[in-house]
Amino acid sequence: MLTSNPFSKASSDSPISLSSSQNLRESLRIAFEHCRQSTFDFIRTVDPSLFCRQAHSDFSPIGWHVGHIAYTEALWILERFARKSPMFPEYHRLFAADGLPKAERQNLPDCQTLYDYLNDVRQAVFEYLEVAPIEQQQRIWWFLVQHESQHCETMALIMELLRVSHPLPSVIGDAAIEVSLITDSAIEKISSSASQIAASQSAMDLMCYVPQGSVCIGSDDRCALDNEQPSYRVDLDAFWIDRYPVTYQDFQRFIDAGGYEEAQWWSPEGWAWLQDHPVAYPLYGERNDEARMSRQSNHPVCGVNWYEATAYAAFVGKRLPTEAEWEKAARWEPSTGMTRPYPWGEDFPTQQLCNHSHHVGSTAEVTRYPGGASPVGCMDMLGNVWEWTSSKFEGYEGFKPFPYVGYSQSYFDGQHYVLRGGSWATRPWALRPSLRNWYHPWVRQIFAGFRCASSYPPQ
Ligand code: AVJ
Ligand code: FE
Repeated sequence: MLTSNPFSKASSDSPISLSSSQNLRESLRIAFEHCRQSTFDFIRTVDPSLFCRQAHSDFSPIGWHVGHIAYTEALWILERFARKSPMFPEYHRLFAADGLPKAERQNLPDCQTLYDYLNDVRQAVFEYLEVAPIEQQQRIWWFLVQHESQHCETMALIMELLRVSHPLPSVIGDAAIEVSLITDSAIEKISSSASQIAASQSAMDLMCYVPQGSVCIGSDDRCALDNEQPSYRVDLDAFWIDRYPVTYQDFQRFIDAGGYEEAQWWSPEGWAWLQDHPVAYPLYGERNDEARMSRQSNHPVCGVNWYEATAYAAFVGKRLPTEAEWEKAARWEPSTGMTRPYPWGEDFPTQQLCNHSHHVGSTAEVTRYPGGASPVGCMDMLGNVWEWTSSKFEGYEGFKPFPYVGYSQSYFDGQHYVLRGGSWATRPWALRPSLRNWYHPWVRQIFAGFRCASSYPPQ
C-alpha cells in the first residue's frame, strides 16, 4: 500500500520554502489517511457489543481508545494550534488520559457516535492542515500518527485478551475467523521446511556476533519520539545475540524441565510474582491445543513478561540484551560503523520485510522474513513480537519531554523495562529500531517475546 517512506529524512534538513511545506503537508495527509484507514479496518472487525467491555483491569475498553484517539488529535491540533474552543467539551473528562480511572471508562457513546467523533475531528484537522505553519508544528503531527498507531495496537491486544478469556464464537466475527484459518494453512505449508532449517543449524549459527565498538543509539529524526532523543554514542563490548526470537519450541524445553517450578532460574521478584500468579505457559500459547502448539512451534513465544523472559535466559545460560545491544544488533553495519534506519536498509516496512500491521494477523514463523535480516544477521528484529531487554526505561542524557511530561517522563521511575522491535500488530509508523516501548516487568498481556544475548561465545 505504501510505496514511499513518509518518515524519510529527505526534506527534514532542507530550507523552508513553499514547496517543501507543501510536500510536508502532503506527506502528513497521506500518513494520517493511511493510519486512519488501518484504524477503521481494525475496528470494523470488532463486534460493537465489545466496545465497552473491559478485558483486563490494566486496560481500558476498545471504545475508549477510539474516543481517546479523536480527543488527542483535537486537543493538540484544534485546541492548542488552531486555538479553537473544544468541539465536544463533554468528552474531555471521558477521553483525556488523565481523566476517569480505567475501571470507569465503560459508559461510552455508541459505536456510530464514536465514528462520527473521529470523522468530525479529522475533517476540521485537515482543514487546518492547509493553513498550518507546518514546518514548526511537524513534530506534533508526526507524534499523532504514532499515537494513533500505538492505541491501535492496544486495541488489538484487548481483542486478543477477550479471545483468550471468552469462548471463541461469542467474541470474534466471521472476518476474524477467516483470517485465522488462512494463517493456519499458510503456516502448515512452510512449517516443516522451516523446522528442518532450524534443526540443521549449529549453536554457533543460531547466535550472531557483534564486535566491540561504538555505535550511535537513538534518533534525532523529525518523527522520533521524545524518549529516542537526543541520540548518543556508546562503546559496547563484544557480545553474541540470538539470530531469532525464542520460539515455542525453544521455550517448551524450559517448561518440560520444570522451569516454572524451579526458583533457581527466577529473580526474587519474578519468583514472588509467580507464586501470586501461578502460570505455566506464555499467555498466547495457553489457549492452544497441542496440534496448534506444534504448528506454532517455530513462532516466537508471545505473551511473556520480563520475569519469564529473564528466567528462560538464565535457564539457557544467557541473559537478555541491553537495549543498546539490541539496537546495535538491529541497525549497525560492521562494514561502515554506521547505523541504518531499518535492519534491511532504508525502505519503509513492507509485508515482505517483516510481520507487522495485521498483514498476517498473528505471529509468524521466525524464519519467514530472510529479507528483513540486519547487517549482523539477526532476523525478525522488527515485527512479529516485541522483545524484552534488560534495560530499565530511562531518559537519554539531555532528554526533553514532548509533547507532555506524561508521555514518557512519568515512566522514568525505575519500575518499567524497555521492549524493542514492534509486533505483528504494530503499524509501520511506530516500527523502527530506535523506538522504545515500556511496561512493568509483570505485564504479559502484550505481544511480547524476547531473544537472548551473551558476553561469551555460544557453546
Ligand atoms: C508506549 C504503548 C506504553 O499505550 O501506554 C499512548 C503509548 N502513551 N498514549 C501506552 C501511549 C500515551 C504507551 N506505550
Ligand atoms: Fe494516548
